[in-house]
Amino acid sequence: MTAPTGSAADVHANVAGKVVVITGASSGLGEATAKYLAERGAVVVLGARRVERLHALVDEIVARGGEALAVATDVTRHEQVQRLVDAAVERYGRIDVMLNNAGLMPHSPLERLKIDDWDRTIDVNIKGVLYGIAAALPHMQRRKSGHIINVSSVAGHKVRPAGAVYSATKTAVRVLSEGLRQEVKPYNIRTTVISPGAVQSELPQSITERDIAHGIEQFYEQYAIPAESFARMVAFAIGQPEDVDVNEILFRPTSQEL
Ligand SMILES: NC(=O)c1ccc[n+]([C@@H]2O[C@H](COP(=O)([O-])OP(=O)(O)OC[C@H]3O[C@@H](n4cnc5c(N)ncnc54)[C@H](OP(=O)(O)O)[C@@H]3O)[C@@H](O)[C@H]2O)c1
Repeated sequence: MTAPTGSAADVHANVAGKVVVITGASSGLGEATAKYLAERGAVVVLGARRVERLHALVDEIVARGGEALAVATDVTRHEQVQRLVDAAVERYGRIDVMLNNAGLMPHSPLERLKIDDWDRTIDVNIKGVLYGIAAALPHMQRRKSGHIINVSSVAGHKVRPAGAVYSATKTAVRVLSEGLRQEVKPYNIRTTVISPGAVQSELPQSITERDIAHGIEQFYEQYAIPAESFARMVAFAIGQPEDVDVNEILFRPTSQEL
């Protein structure tokens, strides 16, 4: 048998059978990725707070012949993220991929002192990613196999007015991902950080300041590309042969200048 390559057929084959835990799977990028990977034979374990949405997604995936499990998860609670990973291991025997995707983007200028928004953004976007790493890493270290994918943003590469706190959290995700990458080499664990540009999702709805939300909604209406674009990036990274570690992906709509 020849060794697997990165060809499209092999990417598909390498995705099939993988057990993939996805946080923030109830809408947007996480939901699209769950569907995309399940259609290609991955087992998907879905976490988010809106559990009724997760159950509907599981039903849809199962109706199409896929395998999925929903676990109510608030990523700001370490024990709930651990429960999500433990449920996957209990049901399917292992996890191959941890996709730390849950996130918020409540933009506002710093001078408006939206301290509750700052706290929530830091709790979900940074602590939530750390809790995902904490839940998955020991299991992957024991198996000497696994793949941790964190979701940053173009905003993790650039900062704009009203976006300082969000950009700070997404920069933190990049830093954590690079530190993780270096530390997990002895354990044969792969790490990827994906930084999307504008992608269609419910993300602008997390903005609590009406005037700021309006501008960003218009930007998304003009530029955002379908959420499946993100799902394809995830599949590309997961689907590489085991000796290939795709560490960073930065992608935008072709029309997006920022
Ligand atoms: N869309 C874009 O243009 C874009 C660009 C760059 C980066 N991103 C990143 O992509 C990721 C996914 O966002 P999206 O665009 O798909 O937005 P979305 O449609 O609003 O989805 C966000 C997801 O995060 C979940 N979430 C929020 N708070 C949570 C919590 N405390 N515990 C568990 N889950 C929580 C939500 O589920 P529940 O509310 O049900 O808990 C939802 O499933 C985020 O990290 C975002 O920063 C998006």
